[in-house]
Amino acid sequence: MKADNNCIVIFGASGDLTYRKLIPALYHLYKIGRLSENFSVLGVARSALDDESFRQKMHDTLIKLENASGEILEKFCEHLYYQAINTSDAVDYAKLLPRLDELHDKYGTGGNTLYYLSTPPSLYGVIPECLSAHGLTTEEFGWKRIIVEKPFGYDIETAKALDIQIHKYFEEHQIYRIDHYLGKETVQNLLVLRFSNGLFEPLWNRNFIDYVEITGAESIGVEDRGGYYDGSGAMRDMFQNHLLQVLAMVAMEPPAIINADSMRDEVAKVLHCLHPLSNEDIKNNLVLGQYTASEIDGEQVKGYLQEKGVPEDSTTETYMAVRCQIDNWRWAGVPFYVRTGKRLPTRVTEVVIHFKTTPHPVFSQNAPDNKLIIRIQPDEGISMRFGLKKPGAGFEAKEVSMDFRYADLASPSLLTAYERLLLDAMKGDATLFARTDAVHACWKFVQPILDYKAERGRIYEYEAGTWGPSEADKLIAKHGKVWRKPSGLMKKKV
Ligand code: NDP
Ligand code: BG6
Repeated sequence: MKADNNCIVIFGASGDLTYRKLIPALYHLYKIGRLSENFSVLGVARSALDDESFRQKMHDTLIKLENASGEILEKFCEHLYYQAINTSDAVDYAKLLPRLDELHDKYGTGGNTLYYLSTPPSLYGVIPECLSAHGLTTEEFGWKRIIVEKPFGYDIETAKALDIQIHKYFEEHQIYRIDHYLGKETVQNLLVLRFSNGLFEPLWNRNFIDYVEITGAESIGVEDRGGYYDGSGAMRDMFQNHLLQVLAMVAMEPPAIINADSMRDEVAKVLHCLHPLSNEDIKNNLVLGQYTASEIDGEQVKGYLQEKGVPEDSTTETYMAVRCQIDNWRWAGVPFYVRTGKRLPTRVTEVVIHFKTTPHPVFSQNAPDNKLIIRIQPDEGISMRFGLKKPGAGFEAKEVSMDFRYADLASPSLLTAYERLLLDAMKGDATLFARTDAVHACWKFVQPILDYKAERGRIYEYEAGTWGPSEADKLIAKHGKVWRKPSGLMKKKV
């Protein structure tokens, strides 16, 4: 299904996200015919660009990042426009009125407008107010929707305050809080794997699952985002949003039907069941780390404190590992070990479901665990690990695997996360966007950890290129477990 005719107004159009993700996503959607011819993009920021210079900049970007060329590129760029305004001055928004009128007329978009907030978060509350002051949020003439980028708040209080502020001008059905992990095909596949197979769901509970590991590892450091990252850290940057959303997909109950309300009801429900961590729990179940300089593959790599934009005495965590529990019938007593970090040995996001061992070890004391590895990225796929007889004499069990690679199904029109989410917002489908109650539940869980960290959190060092501080291994080892060290997804067959 194609997107509705509409005008997409991107605030922060001179910034990194716009040129690296949003414009390439829109270009690809256009190229594969998922955008109607009747769309326009109005870039808005303070920088003194005009239609021509904005088009040229995006044109060059698309050539560089997407290898774009030819008639499709030229035609796509004709749909791009730009208006410079002072984004924090309500009076200046008057300049948007004639531009939007002209674009709605020219493209027959019937007033449908998608606002995308890709500015510093300090403007997320300001822009809706300024739009409303000029009557640009009412739905009398076409729908009005607003996509809000992360971070949605800095802590529970600011998240609530931001929600109140945006809700003064937009109703919940108009608000699309983006978490690009929910746009990833493989995250959605988790739901299909669970809820379209009779095989897994009966085992998906405390009776059969021993523990769950969720890893969001990155090999890159903070690159040139030190200024932003230092105020955020791994907890706010990855855990509070992306990884808790993945956890929700693993742990939620089956929705009765797949639509925005029932899906998001279940997500919110399970996030509300996260066991609140006391200071004592946090002391025993949380490890924070910061990477130090090292040599990786013969190259000197900077430590976090030497990165651009990072204060030399920063105590921001670039790694975190935490043991969480879910207080409900399905999951009582099953630990969820979640870890994320920058400058780890490899880039990998995966979920590992560790099943309980057999009640009585008939063949070998060391029979391999049954595991289901769901690889979200890269090398997307699913690998089931179990024991089979090692060839030869005796009855020794050996781990083997049954593997599925997502690439085997890949079709040329597979959408990236931003493509999928932009398209859904244009179609009015909020299923894969975070609802206010889920965002609050995540902050509610994270807030005691943030408070603990601020008052007495200890940051352990780890060398860039390693799997985090050794304390994280101890965190899991004291419960008799070990972190999986992910390498290639697929194992060699016996
Ligand atoms: P940039 O700093 O590159 O861009 C910010 C944009 O906002 C610029 O276009 C800037 O343009 C504009 N802007 C408008 N008013 C102000 C103001 N008062 N102060 C500063 N800038 C202003 O940021 P990104 O594009 O990287 O990120 C945008 C948002 O998206 C952020 O909230 C970020 O957290 C989020 N995000 C970014 C990701 C990324 O990969 N970059 C990933 C996920 C989320 P001008 O100066 O011309 O007004
Ligand atoms: C962003 C974080 O939201 O997600 C980044 O701000 C992180 O720090 C990125 O690198 C990871 O996204 P992905 O899709 O590369 O796993």
